[in-house]
Amino acid sequence: MLSGKNILIGITGGIAAYKICELIRMFKRANANVRVICTKNALNFVTKLTLQNLSQNEVGVEEFELDEYKPEHISYADEADIMLIAPATANTISKIAHGICDNLLTSVVCAFRKPVIIAPAMNCNMWENPIIQKNLQKLSSIGYKILEPESGFLACGYEGKGRLCSLEKIFEETIQILNSTNSNNQKKYVITAGGTIEDIDPVRYISNYSSGKMGIALADEAYKNGNETILITTVDVERPYKVIKVKSAEQMQDAVNKEFDTADVIIMAAAVADYRVKNKSEQKIKKTCDDELTLELVKNPDILKGLCEKKQNEMSKPRDVKIVGFCAESENLLQNAKEKITKKGCDFLIANDISRKDIGFSSDYNEVTILKKNGESKKLERASKQEIARQILKEINE
Ligand code: CTP
Repeated sequence: MLSGKNILIGITGGIAAYKICELIRMFKRANANVRVICTKNALNFVTKLTLQNLSQNEVGVEEFELDEYKPEHISYADEADIMLIAPATANTISKIAHGICDNLLTSVVCAFRKPVIIAPAMNCNMWENPIIQKNLQKLSSIGYKILEPESGFLACGYEGKGRLCSLEKIFEETIQILNSTNSNNQKKYVITAGGTIEDIDPVRYISNYSSGKMGIALADEAYKNGNETILITTVDVERPYKVIKVKSAEQMQDAVNKEFDTADVIIMAAAVADYRVKNKSEQKIKKTCDDELTLELVKNPDILKGLCEKKQNEMSKPRDVKIVGFCAESENLLQNAKEKITKKGCDFLIANDISRKDIGFSSDYNEVTILKKNGESKKLERASKQEIARQILKEINE
């Protein structure tokens, strides 16, 4: 099942370390090549000899061993198709979240550019500590897959959440990610996010409440699935994939159009301002004695419509780019969405109701209906934006 796949397992110092011996056997039985790196503390719970025998490979612990020319953390990172850290202690999780590289394991994960699965295991009070939760959220938002621990009796004597999730879960998740990152299926995703900013003068602008979270979640998901990913956004974000920062609708249109010819999927999740100021002032507009100030607005280009027209004009070419629009409505959601998909001419339209406080703008949750060109639609129930992103990508790739 995993023949030709290289799995790198990082073990940190928790009692669940002994369970990883069985996990290594599961991967070996599936014909994977397994390499193991440990923190020094992990070796208090499991021996190097055991891990070496089970993985049939040298086990890495120390960072600076001089018997090879290639820097070790880079060669481990280059070789593996996936890295999983199990059990991951609160200490290692927090170090990774802050880019600290003070041992071989944390240095390798910092240099690792392919999918990483983290399976935490710790005392329940440590798990509930907001600092640890914040660090996990940070890692999850960057694209690390966190497999939450289970509840039950803990080795430290407590009862609560903190037990390493099942080995079957880690095994299946690894297989699922490896299958979805099969390079034969790799596509180029271009995704926009955030509200555009239209200057009035050097100190004022017109914009909207879009946080960019949905678009960023989509880009994270596309990247995690092994795709070439380009995020074009008005929001400041750092990601391991290419991020192009833009401000206005016109800049966003330029950036998207440059990628059009090579893109397989374009998702317009950005909230593009429909209008911009006609004569934006180069200098700060001063207050006058008049009680009113009138700003003249002109229409911005409709980026999504322009892309769909471009695709229409290239119908004779074999390349098929999928174009996905979003539709933010505060009333008559489905009726407006149906009209919009026809008007814009896109392949899919993701409709969301921005009047609800528990989903949409700024929220970490969403509930959407996916409309297809052929009139079919599918509702995705309220879930985290990451989960909604996963389901949207699944739907548009079916
Ligand atoms: N969109 C775009 N260019 C614009 C306006 C919107 O590309 N100038 C895209 C958005 O990124 C989104 C889709 O069009 O994918 C629908 O955006 P929405 O704001 O819901 O619709 P509008 O076309 O702006 O229509 P209205 O504001 O009247 O609902």
